[in-house]
Amino acid sequence: MYRSHNCGELRMDHQGQEVTLSGWVQKTRNLGGLTFVDLRDRYGITQLVFNMDDNEALTEQARKLGREFVIKAVGTVNERASKNPDRPTGDIEIIVSALDVLNAAKTPPFTIEEETDGGEDLRMKYRYLDLRRGPLQRNLFFRSKLAVETRKYLADEGFIEVETPNLIKSTPEGARDFVVPSRMNPGEFYALPQSPQTFKQILMVGGFDKYFQIVKCFRDEDLRADRQPEFTQIDCEMSFVTRDEILDTFEGLTKNLFKVMLNKELPDFPKMSYDDAMERYGSDKPDVRFGMEFKEITELTRGKDFPVFDNAEYVVAISAAGIAGSYSNKDIKQLTEWLQRPQIGCKGLVYVKWNEDDTLKSSVGKFYSDDDLRKWLDSAGAQKGDILFVLCGEKEKTQKQMNELRLEMGTRLGLRDPEVFKPLWVVDFPLLEWDEETERFHAMHHPFTSPKVDEIADMMNGDHDAMKRLKADAYDLVINGVEIGGGSIRIHDRELQSKNFKLLGFTPEEAEAQFGFLLGAFEFGAPPHGGIAFGFDRLNAVMNGQNSIRDFIAFPKNTSGRDMMIDAPSPVDQDQLNELYLDLKEVEEKNS
Ligand code: AMO
Repeated sequence: MYRSHNCGELRMDHQGQEVTLSGWVQKTRNLGGLTFVDLRDRYGITQLVFNMDDNEALTEQARKLGREFVIKAVGTVNERASKNPDRPTGDIEIIVSALDVLNAAKTPPFTIEEETDGGEDLRMKYRYLDLRRGPLQRNLFFRSKLAVETRKYLADEGFIEVETPNLIKSTPEGARDFVVPSRMNPGEFYALPQSPQTFKQILMVGGFDKYFQIVKCFRDEDLRADRQPEFTQIDCEMSFVTRDEILDTFEGLTKNLFKVMLNKELPDFPKMSYDDAMERYGSDKPDVRFGMEFKEITELTRGKDFPVFDNAEYVVAISAAGIAGSYSNKDIKQLTEWLQRPQIGCKGLVYVKWNEDDTLKSSVGKFYSDDDLRKWLDSAGAQKGDILFVLCGEKEKTQKQMNELRLEMGTRLGLRDPEVFKPLWVVDFPLLEWDEETERFHAMHHPFTSPKVDEIADMMNGDHDAMKRLKADAYDLVINGVEIGGGSIRIHDRELQSKNFKLLGFTPEEAEAQFGFLLGAFEFGAPPHGGIAFGFDRLNAVMNGQNSIRDFIAFPKNTSGRDMMIDAPSPVDQDQLNELYLDLKEVEEKNS
């Protein structure tokens, strides 16, 4: 027998019992004739004690234990002289009478404790060691329970979990596909699904009514803290539903998950239109834990011979509360430099400081009188003691830059409390996005998204400008500035779907070749339907107040898309390629 108990469960009640524990050596300490060993497993840490006076040979053996040795210890539970209130097992220790080394271990390349000294790539290379650490263990337990609770809730609501295939044909969700060559069909390729989008719609045509799946998706896109090339969605679809019925269902799911996982009651989720979100926060995923809303002051700045503002399409201000006294010129200069980095690309930052003694100080004081500046302050809702920050330029770009500044100021002022959760629905997204460079429309959500009902006539008959104005029946769930999920009411009519493909630049032949199955299905009684997908990794991270999804995934990829542990991707030999009718020479030429 390896163990009678685990390393997290022994308490004072067990005093005097003989027990057997197995686990990893976290630490050994030698104090005079005593040796203490912290023994760790998934459940906790228990202190083992060895006394030179009682058993010299055994104590010598304990002194030779290295970090991460796997051992089995038999001993008696004893009340500790000096208790450790920070540990659930901290009242007791085990006086060891027999010790077995089950496996020795090399010295680990980083410390395996709550805090580690290992860099990200090193921790990923030795993922099995990192996984032993408390934070990762807790994250993956959380994830497991979140999946269980999601399944419970959706099953209770009548959803059925259906698996959809991973070897499919490309679905355009805005990223590149990972492709898989087919040996049996020379020169042909599968694509890994960017999402099960078309399959879940087909399931609605198939009469399943309410579908869900906790499912892997694959996207070949640039990686960030909240993006992985393979990630997991809670993917759902429903038939005969309105937008609000879908939102209510998934608001219910979200509230339930916060309640059972975190014991947090979320208030009803407000709905904000995309246009409003852009005007007020310059982002379609606003962090509404704090105010600092945008105020456009373009008109107020005109005609005072300040050419920068006079020539700008858009001038916008935010008011940072209570920092006039504490923000020096040096701080503002440093903030300006931060905004001028290429990632953000501002030309400059204008400020108006409203000092506590009611005087004003501004970087554009030469051009604007105090009266002018007070109008700006007034319009942005500033108070005495605030600093007004102003950016200008082309509207869309300036909104993005101001969004960055707002989030940064929110962080600096401690307004983004990880314990506070502010969800909202962003609704009424544009249907199409015009790309100036390629002179093409792209689907803002995906090509299967329906325009709002009262826009269908415009979509079928309107001109180019009317297309730019079309609104979609699409929505995102945003929590604390993170896009947790997105979905839409779908087109279920062949003619409308064909029109959408046409607007997106598909010829009828291309649309037929890529999506003939879906267009065909729409001719056999497709019900009205819609759905949503949550980013499951993101939901885990946000619920735990973290930005990066990597530590909620057991085996993530690094920012270059590499699995550092198994060292993938990796080359394959020419024989394997020959079988797939792929020519390595072309690869070599490209790499040289
Ligand atoms: P969408 O593309 O918005 O919609 O994706 C849904 C959610 O998935 C998460 N997500 C990601 N998470 C981690 N890494 C990534 N690379 C990544 N990409 C997306 C986000 C996002 O909100 N088929 C549609 C859903 C629908 O219309 O029903 C879809 O996939 O949290």
